[in-house]
Amino acid sequence: MSDGGVLAGTFLCLEDAVPEGGALKIEIAGRPPIAVFRVQGRFFVTDDTCTHGEASLSEGEIDADECVVECPWHSGAFELSSGKPCGAPCTIALRVHRFERRDGGLYLLG
Ligand code: FES
Repeated sequence: MSDGGVLAGTFLCLEDAVPEGGALKIEIAGRPPIAVFRVQGRFFVTDDTCTHGEASLSEGEIDADECVVECPWHSGAFELSSGKPCGAPCTIALRVHRFERRDGGLYLLG
């Protein structure tokens, strides 16, 4: 069904606002904080809060080769593409969000 030309998605940030090999925390009213990661030119959008505790994953260490973020609190880890936990003590998957790149910006879908 046509959306009448209205572009979809909630604006997250400009691509340039996310440092290569780093992350940006985005606060959107009414929902949990979002983290935008940039790894070797690719972007990943996930929940920002670790599923083990209340740590902010955008403050974590990114392993660019493995495309993994390590939590700054207890060193748990998640795959950025799938949200799958890949390091103890994390066992619950991180929510990964669909997004769109458009005109130099990133937009959250759904
Ligand atoms: S809060 Fe992230 S591993 Fe514990």
